[in-house]
Amino acid sequence: MRFENRVVLITGAGAGIGRAAAVKFAAEGAKVAVADLNLEAALETVEMIKMAGGTATAISCDVASPEAVEAMVKTTVETYGALHHAVNNASGPSVPTPLNDTTTEVFDRVLSITLRGVWLSMKAEVPVMLEQGVGTIVNIASVAALHGAPLLSPYGAAKAGVINLTETAAAELATSGIRANVIAPGGIATDGIKRLFEMQPETKNTMSAIHAMNRMGQPDEVADAILYLSSDESSFITGHNLVVDGGLLVKSDLM
Ligand SMILES: NC(=O)c1ccc[n+]([C@@H]2O[C@H](COP(=O)([O-])OP(=O)(O)OC[C@H]3O[C@@H](n4cnc5c(N)ncnc54)[C@H](O)[C@@H]3O)[C@@H](O)[C@H]2O)c1
Repeated sequence: MRFENRVVLITGAGAGIGRAAAVKFAAEGAKVAVADLNLEAALETVEMIKMAGGTATAISCDVASPEAVEAMVKTTVETYGALHHAVNNASGPSVPTPLNDTTTEVFDRVLSITLRGVWLSMKAEVPVMLEQGVGTIVNIASVAALHGAPLLSPYGAAKAGVINLTETAAAELATSGIRANVIAPGGIATDGIKRLFEMQPETKNTMSAIHAMNRMGQPDEVADAILYLSSDESSFITGHNLVVDGGLLVKSDLM
């Protein structure tokens, strides 16, 4: 029970990696604020946690909105009295498009959720943590941030920005009792991706083959890394980008 009496806020916790992390935090004793654009999905996560005997509350929030993000943090603190761990995970879907065909509207929307949303979240979370003198932040980037991201230009650029924002926050906050780290997942088989595999079984093999382990990751495998970076076990780690990618980055095309 590494998170007994701790309060965790997770954005995009209505599905996938965010939901897996919410369930694991709750199983280890945390009170979890489950924030999502899709309130119904957030409520489902809360139900899963409560059915397992945990404590959680759902918050409707679009992380692209400064007012909604402020309100999300305020509600968390009003509900549970503190904010010890923040996981800034929300990111909208990206439609693969060549850079030259990507519209300005799409670029701005992706950046407003995936990059600005993380910045807005940290901007609202950090003052609470500074007042407490303690806190951890885990942001979710992607391996797409670490090399060219063909057909995903706004997403790759936004995720590269998330890594830099995390490093900056870590450097600014290191002596204040607050740690900030980031995770770069490879391909993770969330429900949305599993549905795609059912429709296009050949995609599963292609997606698996880009990883040295010849499989995609599971949301739980990223969630485990999130809990590690939030726990006291990682007390001397800040500003780190933890790649959780089944060897995607180290795989040579010659293999
Ligand atoms: N799944 C992967 O293969 C993969 C790979 C690398 C990185 N990531 C990153 O991991 C994180 C989680 O991805 P996932 O695959 O679990 O996603 P998912 O699509 O399964 O779930 C994302 C959740 O975020 C919510 N959301 C979308 N826009 C939002 C907004 N504006 N405000 C608040 N909530 C919003 C959705 O409603 C959904 O519940 C994302 O940051 C994603 O970019 C995922």
